[in-house]
Amino acid sequence: MWRPHLVDTARLKYLGIVDALEADIRAGRVTPGERLPPQRAIAEALGVDLTTVTRALNEAQRRGLVSAQVGRGTFVRDEPAGDEGGGTPLDLSMNIPPQPAEPDLRRILPQGIASILTSPRGTLAMHYQESTGAPADRTAAASWLAGRVAGASADRIVVTSGAQAALFALCALLLGRGDVVAAGAVTYPGLKAVAAQQHLELAPVAMDEQGILPEAFEAVCRERAPKLLYLIPSIDNPTTATLPADRRREVAAVARRHGVLLIEDDPYAPLRSERLPALAELAPELTWHIATLSKCSTPALRIAYVLAPNAAAAVRLATVLRSSVLMAPPIFAALATRWITDGTLTALASAIRAENRQRQSSAASIFSGLDFAADPDGHHLWLHLPQRWRAAEFADHAERAGLAIVPASAFAVSPHPAEAVRISLGIAPDRGMLEEGLTQLSGLLTQPAVGSRAVV
Ligand SMILES: Cc1ncc(COP(=O)(O)O)c(C=O)c1O
Repeated sequence: MWRPHLVDTARLKYLGIVDALEADIRAGRVTPGERLPPQRAIAEALGVDLTTVTRALNEAQRRGLVSAQVGRGTFVRDEPAGDEGGGTPLDLSMNIPPQPAEPDLRRILPQGIASILTSPRGTLAMHYQESTGAPADRTAAASWLAGRVAGASADRIVVTSGAQAALFALCALLLGRGDVVAAGAVTYPGLKAVAAQQHLELAPVAMDEQGILPEAFEAVCRERAPKLLYLIPSIDNPTTATLPADRRREVAAVARRHGVLLIEDDPYAPLRSERLPALAELAPELTWHIATLSKCSTPALRIAYVLAPNAAAAVRLATVLRSSVLMAPPIFAALATRWITDGTLTALASAIRAENRQRQSSAASIFSGLDFAADPDGHHLWLHLPQRWRAAEFADHAERAGLAIVPASAFAVSPHPAEAVRISLGIAPDRGMLEEGLTQLSGLLTQPAVGSRAVV
């Protein structure tokens, strides 16, 4: 518990309280998630009146050090933001899941690691492992994936340190300089980063509100002869579209006709209650399925599983990983295995889904009347802007007001993406702050458009 004190060189008393609190947080004397003593107790301890403490805590909140939760108290924030002098920016740009109150990751992460290390075979989690992943981890992954991809077996699994590392390794394995990769007209920016690094060409596939159009994919196959199609079949990033079952079948058929490989990047499927056939079931011989735990638990885990078309292909992928990250972090792979077997992973995914639903419902009422796409289970939305706004200019405008969002250009594969922005609902520390930020955003939309720079 924080022991209140004052930095007495501060200009004003209330600033002295905030400076002391900030110094204690940065020095680790109080830890993220800790509740501060009640305001009255702080006032008594310091011999100041209550309004001075209230002012101090408001300032601490403005600096991003603490967040107030109605009826519960004031808590030290996870990541104290620096004092930028212009109000604390609210991050609606990072697509991370909300951290549920229960199971509390701050408690179960250290507990899980401690109990692995003290278990009879715990020291194995501190050794080097095969680049495919340890047998126990591959077996757990197969059992977890089998609920969504029939036929997933341990010998086809490779454990990687996140989906992004898997994507890089897969492109290195399957493609060469100048090869063409088909992808949605807007897509996950991590693919664009890999393409730029490995000198691959991206060919945009037209989309509608249900995802990529099979006939557009076929046209790209005829015109550009892609080697591979990258797709995000569930709660697409950024458009939020989920490809319906019949379209999945058509995409698989087109891929087969043209001999195109598939990377099915499916981080959001565990958040959806409805089960749809995976491309890895419809065209298993062509498909590399990536299942990260970043969106249904925490990106800090850095664990993803790749389901390869067959066991030999999994070994080939592991050879690429051996030349880069070598292996996924064994201790976190073991923790993921534990969470799969004891049901924690399922509980985390359900808790994230429940919080996502609440946040989406707040967003839907604040944005009612606006043109946006969202999935009630997901943690982002895709807002089409009113005609007068350009996406990049609106994102700049929002940033000046302290709100970070991502314009369509960040996701664009085609030269003229829609004027839209992705708004992520997961990172705001609580629903109150999220609602405030979204209300502010919808207010900014009604303002006259401002150009980001003078044109002369
Ligand atoms: C479609 C998609 N793939 C991969 C990732 C990154 O996953 P990881 O944290 O496992 O690298 C994201 C994160 O936003 C994503 O949306």
